Amino acid sequence: MTAAQRRGLNDAVTRMWSFLAPAYDLPFLQQWVYRPPHDEVIARLRAHDARKIADIACGTGILSDRIERELHPDEIYGVDMSDGMLAQARARSDRVRWLRGPAEQLPFDDGALDAVVTTSAFHFFDQPAALREFHRVLAPGGLAAVAALSTRQPLLQAPATNRWKPQHNASPAEMRSLFEGAGFTVTDQHRIPRPIWTRIVSDLITVGTKS
Ligand SMILES: C[S@@+](CC[C@H](N)C(=O)[O-])C[C@H]1O[C@@H](n2cnc3c(N)ncnc32)[C@H](O)[C@@H]1O
Repeated sequence: MTAAQRRGLNDAVTRMWSFLAPAYDLPFLQQWVYRPPHDEVIARLRAHDARKIADIACGTGILSDRIERELHPDEIYGVDMSDGMLAQARARSDRVRWLRGPAEQLPFDDGALDAVVTTSAFHFFDQPAALREFHRVLAPGGLAAVAALSTRQPLLQAPATNRWKPQHNASPAEMRSLFEGAGFTVTDQHRIPRPIWTRIVSDLITVGTKS
């Protein structure tokens, strides 16, 4: 698939998220699906003492807002492609800086940030391009944390090159290789525990640092 085809498919996905935005904050959905990776990312940022942070594909901004309220960083940005999701994010907080842009072309200077995080969205990205971009915008020593659905069953996984597939759930080995290919040293990778969830698909968090 060419970069332009990939971009077109991803634009369709982000338009879909604008349509779904009003249902996104339903408490049961947040508690069962999205909160466990958010908790994990907050713990990582706290341990790293990150002060300039971007939450990429922030959606309605629940994680960015929690980062602002719980960690009090110097700068916190929420970046997304979907106008509908960003409209809800803007209504949630005026202390987070909300920016419209793709994960693959971030609106930050080289070395501007000390942490870049993303939850429940990496499967939609052009993954090598997004990780290269995370590496570019981080200062030396900066942290990248990606939490994303990752199947435990390789047979259920269509190949990354399937042109009709708008998303790709990378395996743990693929995630490591993507991080290393972008220049990161992988410092941790593990499954995120959930209260109840399927055994087939679960969230994986991969953490890397820029040397
Ligand atoms: C399931 S929501 C996740 C939102 C949030 N990260 C969370 O954990 O609640 C997926 C989000 O990814 C965004 N998205 C998809 N592809 C994107 C891209 N290439 N660049 C930026 N945002 C993207 C969508 O617009 C949507 O808001």
